[in-house]
Amino acid sequence: MKKKPRLGFLGLGWIGTQRMQAVAESGRAEIVALADPSREALKRAAVPQAQRFQSLAPLLKLDLDGLVIATPSALHAEQSIAALEQKIAVFCQKPLGRTAAEVAKIIETARQSDVLLGIDLSYRFTQAVAAICEAANSGALGRLYAANLVFHNAYGPDKKWFYDAPLSGGGCVIDLGTHLVDLALLLMKSPMHGVSSRLFRGGEPIAPAKTRCEVEDFAIARLDFASGATAQIACSWNLNAGQDAVIEASFYGERGGASLRNLKGSFCDFTTELFQGTSRRMLAEPPDAWGPRALLDWVDRLAAGARFDCEVNSAIEVAKVIDAIYQSR
Ligand SMILES: NC(=O)c1ccc[n+]([C@@H]2O[C@H](COP(=O)([O-])OP(=O)(O)OC[C@H]3O[C@@H](n4cnc5c(N)ncnc54)[C@H](O)[C@@H]3O)[C@@H](O)[C@H]2O)c1
Repeated sequence: MKKKPRLGFLGLGWIGTQRMQAVAESGRAEIVALADPSREALKRAAVPQAQRFQSLAPLLKLDLDGLVIATPSALHAEQSIAALEQKIAVFCQKPLGRTAAEVAKIIETARQSDVLLGIDLSYRFTQAVAAICEAANSGALGRLYAANLVFHNAYGPDKKWFYDAPLSGGGCVIDLGTHLVDLALLLMKSPMHGVSSRLFRGGEPIAPAKTRCEVEDFAIARLDFASGATAQIACSWNLNAGQDAVIEASFYGERGGASLRNLKGSFCDFTTELFQGTSRRMLAEPPDAWGPRALLDWVDRLAAGARFDCEVNSAIEVAKVIDAIYQSR
């Protein structure tokens, strides 16, 4: 592999533009081409040397090392598979697919092509989550038996496609719950035993038959693990939350607890504290420029010649839990 991977960026909306800028500023990759059907989005992109296209097909002919995908969620599977089949490594926004079946198909294509597949599970790369993992791995928490994970986005998404189930794959559960389920599985390290949930839209429960047709804006789920541990998950869009966002990931064990919380309603600033009895100690606090860290990690691995990594299989387990949250009522 050459020193600087040759990258294409597909989808230059809110997150795609941010991630592209971060890679450009890092100087760790060569941004060869951009694609988005929106001429405006292409024009705005401050990467003058990059070729510009309005669809994926021409990108696939450019001898790219990697493709960064940040398009509406329903497109991730088809676009990832098209690139992976050409042996182009992929870094895709979450959710990798709308269902576990889609996610498994993408991962199988990456495995067969033996190329690196990454997902923007960006919260994993915060210092705050790293501090929880360190506390858990050091034994300071003892055996984990309970967790409480929350992600309320009191604005809700401002793009129409998020509210269009075939394009988004669902509402706040697939959008925000994906991060929470990922963190729960990462820390609990146990297969699932059972999942139950309640989903709402506009304050009304959603009938089971309408799952993923009506886009939920509030959800509570309980995840029971084979180990006996349990986790409670709550997420929403447009909740009367009294602040922009409420984000929490708290894990409780026999010996201690570790709790990530957002500061003053921020989407970006987190603290993690270690709890022991009634005392607490700060483990992580801002500043922490974590946003592009997952992508830059993938870029560095690509530059070092990394091929398919089965670690990405954890996305199938996450997607199975998301499927269960949608189906369990
Ligand atoms: N990792 C995270 O924490 C995180 C945060 C925000 C968004 N996301 C994910 O990123 C994705 C994009 O979200 P967003 O908020 O940036 O949306 P967005 O609507 O701002 O951007 C989507 C872009 O994709 C473009 N697009 C549409 N169809 C396309 C096609 N066929 N080919 C190429 N481009 C196409 C649109 O023109 C738009 O510019 C979603 O899947 C979302 O879930 C992840």
